[in-house]
Amino acid sequence: MIRRLILLAAGALLLAACGSTKTVTVTVGTQQGPTTKVSALVAEGAHDFNQFACAQCHGPNGGGGISSGVPALKIVGKAFTAAQLRTIIDHGLGESANPTAPYMPVWGLIISARQVSALVAYVHAGLPAVAGAVPPPVQTDQGPVVEGAQLYVRYGCINCHGPNGLGGVPNPQSADKSIPPLSGADFFNQFNTDQKIIDVIRSGSVIGKAPIVSMPHWGGILSTSQLNALVAYIKTLQTS
Ligand code: HEC
Ligand code: HEC
Repeated sequence: MIRRLILLAAGALLLAACGSTKTVTVTVGTQQGPTTKVSALVAEGAHDFNQFACAQCHGPNGGGGISSGVPALKIVGKAFTAAQLRTIIDHGLGESANPTAPYMPVWGLIISARQVSALVAYVHAGLPAVAGAVPPPVQTDQGPVVEGAQLYVRYGCINCHGPNGLGGVPNPQSADKSIPPLSGADFFNQFNTDQKIIDVIRSGSVIGKAPIVSMPHWGGILSTSQLNALVAYIKTLQTS
């Protein structure tokens, strides 16, 4: 609350300084309330929970409230054994056949064994708020390309499709042996309309049965304007 007041004050000063009537500070998701001091492993898990976008579907600190199709983890999380949690993270969960519902990604080899252990420790610790473990911010007042670039990180796309959509992340059991890039000529020949790109982001791809890494369903998670922002960003990545 204090931080918010300071922000407002800073915004007012800025407005006064440049005589502008534009709104200031449109970053989403950087605020953090009280935090808990935890072990190094639990802290790692808290950061992984944001890096791999668990928080974007299960809510901040696993508190839910994002989509009725995605359970909160605070209470149920502790009931799962480490082995059960490992299987869920490696193999995904949900209705893979329903393209309008969110589907938990099949992470397979993308998240290392050590990182899965950290996530398990974090879930078993009850998903406390840990200082600095917040989702990457998204600026929504600088046009769709900036917003899309930041959504690409916040929603964890970058873990699978690589920085700048360059691809190269291994997916050994799939036909291509790697997760497709979102930047080369092949991609833009196949995905030659905005709608085709939006459809695959929203509805995922059902080739995903572990150990094949699958494209998650983001239906019900990403809004139409966020999908449009991602498309605007992806279209700036064309390399040929
Ligand atoms: C694209 C959205 C999405 C992302 C990202 C996501 N999940 Fe899930 N998760 C789901 C859905 C959907 C379900 C299960 C729905 C069901 O049971 O039908 C689920 C279920 C779970 C469950 C089982 C809970 C229960 O009550 O059955 C755990 C544990 C879990 N996720 C952990 C994680 C972790 C850890 C991450 C990050 C590595 C993660 N999830 C990322 C959507 C997501
Ligand atoms: C867990 C890994 C994973 C994550 C996270 C992920 N993707 Fe994917 N994505 C894939 C895989 C695997 C495919 C290929 C599916 C296929 O061939 O059927 C794919 C396919 C795509 C495609 C179609 C490209 C093609 O050549 O088939 C687009 C566009 C795309 N993803 C965008 C995104 C965006 C945007 C995000 C973040 C909101 C995202 N992906 C997050 C794994 C992932």
